[in-house]
Amino acid sequence: MVAWWSVRLPLLALCLSLAAAGAHAQAQPANKDFEPQVGQEGKDVVWVPTSQTLVNKMLDMAKVTAKDSVIDLGSGVGRTVITAAKRGARAVGIEYNPNMVELSRRNAAKEGLGERAQFRKADLFETDLSDATVITMFLLPSINLKLRPKLLDLKPGTRIVSNSFTMGEWNADETATVDKDCTTYCTAYLWIIPAKVDGAWHTPQGELTLKQEFQNFTGTLKSANHSAAVANGKIHGDQISFTAGGTQYTGHVNGNSIEGTAKSSTASNKWTATRVGKTAGRS
Ligand SMILES: C[S@@+](CC[C@H](N)C(=O)[O-])C[C@H]1O[C@@H](n2cnc3c(N)ncnc32)[C@H](O)[C@@H]1O
Repeated sequence: MVAWWSVRLPLLALCLSLAAAGAHAQAQPANKDFEPQVGQEGKDVVWVPTSQTLVNKMLDMAKVTAKDSVIDLGSGVGRTVITAAKRGARAVGIEYNPNMVELSRRNAAKEGLGERAQFRKADLFETDLSDATVITMFLLPSINLKLRPKLLDLKPGTRIVSNSFTMGEWNADETATVDKDCTTYCTAYLWIIPAKVDGAWHTPQGELTLKQEFQNFTGTLKSANHSAAVANGKIHGDQISFTAGGTQYTGHVNGNSIEGTAKSSTASNKWTATRVGKTAGRS
């Protein structure tokens, strides 16, 4: 049997993108009597609101607290931003349609959220995301893929949550579906930005060479007379874990160094690694 979503989601995505095509309507000034219509044109994707139950689930998955700085890309009427700000986070909505921006500001003002909920009339592709600890979005598969390189350059541990649409071969770290008060677009995907570990590392145990694919990696650990395959390589934000030669390595990646523990059946020792050659960029 073909799963319903494998047929329905691509069709819905097509509707979102076809209706968005050729949209130039947002150039006019904001209208205070504006009433949004589900499916109305947007610059790159139409407006369809995320259900409140899925918004709550998305923010739960990202573990949003008052310490977070949340950006909603394509913020519509501001529901996600307002919900995040109610949790105490600093939340910013990026929205191309000025009427949506004004309506969101009025919606946030009614909730008395002050500076915690802000809305900017801007293009999501031209927005600096580097201060965010959480990014939420309900866009399209093609837009997610276009954003992916920029997202992967964010600080390790930044959480990305998407309503309904995935990131190609970058598998989600967590998926959840809500059924209460939600009829369409009820699944959320969470990714944790992984530290960059691809390349060569010097360790007291030998030369460690890693081949990274998103949050997973393989590789080898070579000493003078032995070569061990790296298995179960995982990165969760800045946390790394793998096994090699019967030893379990765990640690914390901090740019060009790793510090952690190497545990074998007989011993548990402090373990460090230093990157050889080119630097890691932001991680
Ligand atoms: C599917 S709606 C999602 C709204 C909201 N995030 C939610 O989940 O309820 C997508 C929103 O993105 C906005 N949008 C489309 N292209 C955009 C762009 N290039 N920059 C900023 N916003 C954009 C649309 O106007 C629309 O409000």
